[in-house]
Amino acid sequence: MSLELDLRDLARDIATEAGELARRRRAEGVRVAASKSTIADIVTEADREVEALIRSRLANERPSDGFLGEESGTAEGTSGVTWVVDPIDGTVNYASGMPSYAVSVAAVREGEAVAGVVRVPMLDETFSAARGDGARLDSASGSTPLNVATEFPAGALIGTGFGYDPRTHQGDIETVQSVMPLARDVRRIGAAAIDLSYVAAGRLDAFFERGLKPWDLAAGGLLVEEAGGSVRELPADRFGRRMTIAGHASLVGRIVDRIAGITSDE
Ligand code: IPD
Ligand code: CA
Repeated sequence: MSLELDLRDLARDIATEAGELARRRRAEGVRVAASKSTIADIVTEADREVEALIRSRLANERPSDGFLGEESGTAEGTSGVTWVVDPIDGTVNYASGMPSYAVSVAAVREGEAVAGVVRVPMLDETFSAARGDGARLDSASGSTPLNVATEFPAGALIGTGFGYDPRTHQGDIETVQSVMPLARDVRRIGAAAIDLSYVAAGRLDAFFERGLKPWDLAAGGLLVEEAGGSVRELPADRFGRRMTIAGHASLVGRIVDRIAGITSDE
């Protein structure tokens, strides 16, 4: 088996175990441990515990790999592989008792994700990809290959997200407004890794958001590419946030044209 498939299978096992821990801790009750970039940007005790579990499992299985996690920072490795991990993507959903949260685990080599898994424990869904081997969804109803949507006869169903900093909300709403002529409707699910998984699965036609972090994007971006889609990044805005757009290349191009039209006026 190739290294990419090995890494994907390891990521799948660990993300499944981590998702089960997150689900169990949620059922026991959640405590917000701290606020981060703004008061809205929270971390729970479970985020930290789940990341510690993932980190120790990876350290046992592949001790020479590097690690970059949302909650516990960076460790250099020697193998050329770095694991990029969001223990709970959608923490506000998690803390609020909503089921749309996920564990996101990706293996990155030479700056490029080569394996990625997004596990949604409350829905028992596992989205996974290995570079060159396609993307798939495993769930109670079986295993299915993933393909991005290619046609949008009623307009595109487009996911987006907003940053935690209230100063950025007005600009983000203007961006949504500029994209609306392409949309049949808009979704704000609250977990970028799930948005990207849904684009890979053709549930959403496209997704865009400013200011994603590496752990939001690493696994989900690979899922989109391996499902036949494209992921583009636009230069940073005045808050230092790069825009990420994912979906079928033709639709991404149309969204980029609309967003570029308003950002050049900022
Ligand atoms: C956040 C979620 C949210 C997105 C934010 C992310 P977190 O991740 O993915 O949907 O809008 O940009 O930071 O804080 O729940 O891990
Ligand atoms: Ca998180």
